[in-house]
Amino acid sequence: METKCGDKVRGQGVETSFIDNGRCVTYPSRMTFDEARRRLEAESQGHVLRFWEQLDDTQRSNLLEQISTLDLGLVGRMRSQLGDWLKSKDTTAAEPEPAGVVKLADDRRAVATLRGESALRAGEVGVLLVAGGQGSRLGFDGPKGAYPIGPVSDAVLFYFHARKVLALSKAYDTTVPFYIMTSASNDAATRACFEEHKWFGLNPEAVFFFKQGMWPALDAEGRLILEAPDRLFMSPDGHGGTLSALQTSGGLDDMVRRGLSTIFYFQVDNPLVEVADPAFIGMHLFEEAELSVKVCAKRDPEEGLGMVVQRDGRCEMIEYTELTREQKYRRREDGSLYFNYGSVAIHLFQLDFLRREASVEMPMHIAHKKIPFCGDDGKVVKPDKPNGYKFEKFIFDHLPHANKVLNVAFDRADEFSPVKNAKGPDSPETCRRDLIAKWGRWFDAIGIELPRDAGGHPAIPIEIDPFYARTPAQLRERLRDGPLPDLNAPVWLKET
Ligand code: UTP
Repeated sequence: METKCGDKVRGQGVETSFIDNGRCVTYPSRMTFDEARRRLEAESQGHVLRFWEQLDDTQRSNLLEQISTLDLGLVGRMRSQLGDWLKSKDTTAAEPEPAGVVKLADDRRAVATLRGESALRAGEVGVLLVAGGQGSRLGFDGPKGAYPIGPVSDAVLFYFHARKVLALSKAYDTTVPFYIMTSASNDAATRACFEEHKWFGLNPEAVFFFKQGMWPALDAEGRLILEAPDRLFMSPDGHGGTLSALQTSGGLDDMVRRGLSTIFYFQVDNPLVEVADPAFIGMHLFEEAELSVKVCAKRDPEEGLGMVVQRDGRCEMIEYTELTREQKYRRREDGSLYFNYGSVAIHLFQLDFLRREASVEMPMHIAHKKIPFCGDDGKVVKPDKPNGYKFEKFIFDHLPHANKVLNVAFDRADEFSPVKNAKGPDSPETCRRDLIAKWGRWFDAIGIELPRDAGGHPAIPIEIDPFYARTPAQLRERLRDGPLPDLNAPVWLKET
């Protein structure tokens, strides 16, 4: 039988052989060149194959493999949403109003803490960390969780999170399972970081890594962007990809198997976070909320936190850019901002709610970004201004679906100082300073005087391993019988 270029001659499983320029070539892909071309052209994306003739066998195989895993139906939806978005950003949604927020008063805190502790002791609480982001503003070469942040030890961000999980497990005589979302870009490096640090003392069987999905990007004409002749540009599908990734990876089943009912969710960049704070858990359970959100007063009207609002009778979260200037700057009689409370992505979810939500189609958010692309000469171009559109899902789009949402206000000085930027606000420098200030307040609380600078900030670097002490009360216990640390040198209290 005569064969021509592109003819499929064998095609079982993940391997396909076909005739290419008179040679029989085998590609470890489910897709032939012809199938790829047909599918792409049907979606007006035929340009993806424009370098085909210049690719070697491996590159061709890689490209076909990538195309075979691409959801072209989704690409079609992205393209049509982008078209609408570029035409008009107007919204017909009702005016938002600030959502109700409760503060954890001292008398309720004690009872709520007891309730939260009993859930922890019963092994009903799991911890979920999203760490799949690219950390582009920080510009660190590696997963953000591997960034050294310890003010004395240079311990990495993952260390502080993992040691808190370990400390909770010990305090409540249980195993708190730790679910960590990574992405294709940082999964191997994240796992290697845990291996290198001997899992920070955790039992590896209680750590569950799972990878989020990757999405392509489009140019202004809705065309897929190639970042190399044989590769489409792909980036993580946003923290809103958490639930679908948890479902496909078996993470949700694992949670069920372990008998969990409440999941504490947080982000990798904030080492001040009170992981699975018992008082927060207790409030959430008392109120029978399906989703709870820790919120704090905004630093200033322009701070870019998501805002919890009430709209059409439901609680939802909007990006701060969705508020008009007038809404952002509006104040109440007591001087506080009318839209005062922002979310720092610390949540509690009921597992039943997560399971219900896992198959819900999430809205796509579009952002105009600088995306490396492949020029006509096949070389990669790094643009200096936005040239394409990325699509992301946001975790907070689950909010309006919850039967009950509870917003709990907390004091940001104690719980929030993220590492977002390389310099300036929300940078490693401000974060280390806030960590030291927090631990300095613990010393104050137990009556140990630290040397202070003129501004009242501790004059020496301090660091406390969360497994050594998770609260001021534990710090007092630990220091009661032992020798006091030398307060004229950097203080590093750690479990030996
Ligand atoms: P950010 O929105 O701060 O994004 O993520 P980022 O990727 O860390 O940093 P930039 O914007 O590129 O500078 C908030 C949290 O959500 C996680 C991040 O890892 C971080 O913990 N995240 C974000 C994901 O897990 N996946 C994503 O696709 C995006």
